[in-house]
Amino acid sequence: QQNGPLAGKHVVITAGPTHEPIDPVRYIANRSSGKQGYALAKEAVKAGAKVTLVSGPVTLNAPSGVERISVETAQEMHEAVANVLPADIAIMAAAVADWKVANQGTEKIKKQADGSLPSLEFSENPDIARFVGHHESQRPKLVIGFAAETTNVEEHAKAKLTKKNTDWIIANDVSPETGIMGGDRNQIKIITRDGIEAWDDMPKGDVARKVIEKIAKTLSK
Ligand code: C5P
Repeated sequence: QQNGPLAGKHVVITAGPTHEPIDPVRYIANRSSGKQGYALAKEAVKAGAKVTLVSGPVTLNAPSGVERISVETAQEMHEAVANVLPADIAIMAAAVADWKVANQGTEKIKKQADGSLPSLEFSENPDIARFVGHHESQRPKLVIGFAAETTNVEEHAKAKLTKKNTDWIIANDVSPETGIMGGDRNQIKIITRDGIEAWDDMPKGDVARKVIEKIAKTLSK
């Protein structure tokens, strides 16, 4: 039996990138390190929650006390999340690929003698946050999405809140000069239905602790 402000709560967290295969040896990925999602998982455990971390390929160890389900593709992440519901809180921190390669090679794609180039076709991946936010029978009480943007951060975040039916969007500017993606610090804005809070730049561990505190406070209201 755990103690703490989230005792008895089940928290599902997605984290990391997804890998979308091109053929058996190649894939498309992104620069997400998983650090923010893993930090949130660690803090949620500390707050007494039962934590399921659905993670794309990262080099991080699972924080102790967390149940980690490791996946590769967005499709696998979607299935894993669907399988671990119900949850009281969902935090969708993964950088899920929007598209998968529709014409994946079943064998390694070879260079052509005539110099002709392969072309990739794409199809849309499931939107996991949107699926969770709109879930008819098992929507968590609090659904939190992230918005990694490089332009018009607030405007895009608000649009996501509506489209995905999340309660909050945690927005950050991932322009390369911010060093946020893959880095150890984060500067976030929390967009809720009531407005926007802008937080100072701080280590991802501090962001995680304060986000978990805010979640506990919100659920106790
Ligand atoms: O639409 P966009 O990808 O910018 O939205 C970001 C938010 O949606 C993040 O919380 C991310 O984890 C989630 N997402 C998702 N499944 C997708 C795409 C994004 O869960 N296919």
